[in-house]
Amino acid sequence: MPIILPMDTHAMDLPEPRTGELEAAPDAHSAGRQQRFDRKMEDDRKIEPQDWMPDAYRKTLVRQISQHAHSEIIGMQPEGNWISRAPSLKRKAILLAKVQDEGGHGLYLYSAAETLGVSRDALLDALHSGKAKYSSIFNYPTPTWSDVGVIGWLVDGAAIMNQVPICRCSYGPYARAMIRICKEESFHQRQGFESLMTQMRGTAAQREMVQDAVNRWYWPVLAMFGPPDADSPNSAQGMRWGIKRISNDDLRQKFVDATVPQAKILGVNLPDADLKWNEQRQHYDYGAIDWDDFWAVVNGQGPCNKERLATRVKAHADGQWVRDAALAHARKQQARQLKEAA
Ligand SMILES: [Fe+2]
Ligand SMILES: [Fe+2]
Repeated sequence: MPIILPMDTHAMDLPEPRTGELEAAPDAHSAGRQQRFDRKMEDDRKIEPQDWMPDAYRKTLVRQISQHAHSEIIGMQPEGNWISRAPSLKRKAILLAKVQDEGGHGLYLYSAAETLGVSRDALLDALHSGKAKYSSIFNYPTPTWSDVGVIGWLVDGAAIMNQVPICRCSYGPYARAMIRICKEESFHQRQGFESLMTQMRGTAAQREMVQDAVNRWYWPVLAMFGPPDADSPNSAQGMRWGIKRISNDDLRQKFVDATVPQAKILGVNLPDADLKWNEQRQHYDYGAIDWDDFWAVVNGQGPCNKERLATRVKAHADGQWVRDAALAHARKQQARQLKEAA
């Protein structure tokens, strides 16, 4: 069924101005729209797809929601890789459910992005051509079973920190999608922690395998929250628009504070010599993040960037027959309905 997008703010949907109105009227009109938008921001009310919104707000949301959607579906790969090798039926069932959830998160988010007037095809093209970004964390490899547990514990744990505030985002469809996503993310975090706990109660070799995975993931996960606030010029605008609610550094601090006690319970060391409780700040201090490494991975030089993208492009091409079949079926249904109506 064709999806009808509410796009009243797009130039193509605006009535042609009559001669004489060209100068004065559009200005007064747009000032009124801007004021209504600003008032909604001040009152912390939601913007819905049919509401007018500034172009920059729309573009920022399309970029953020689509990057988020791309991250969800690319994020299926590092763990999907272990479905056929999970150590027990129970672990396999849990992992299957988790990876399917991530696919579902991608679908809600593409749908939320579509309400802003972009097509899913255009968003996927941008991903497949390498133009669009996704979270750099998924460009790291998963060589052992412990990586799967650590992704659940730390990567999904970081995702929750980042995503809970987005449930209060000013754009309604994004905020509502995040509520369900966050519920599922907390299951992801718990299953990862529980799997690691089981491994830590096992043999010395298992404990070593968990520690090795923690050593490899810890720093990239801290970088997941994005550049320090001082180097993140877009953040302030995102805050004013109610898209971003908590700054990168504050989220990172919350994550470190929550992770230290969990690491103690697990019995693993977090690989940071500078990590210590600061009585005055009432927070943990932590060491310096290697931002050069982060940017190298963002810009395509991570260990798995090429592999992840190639796998995604191939999956899309392999699924072409499904899309063709669905469209053919929809056309047939439509033709039948028209015939019945005639
Ligand atoms: Fe997810
Ligand atoms: Fe998740």
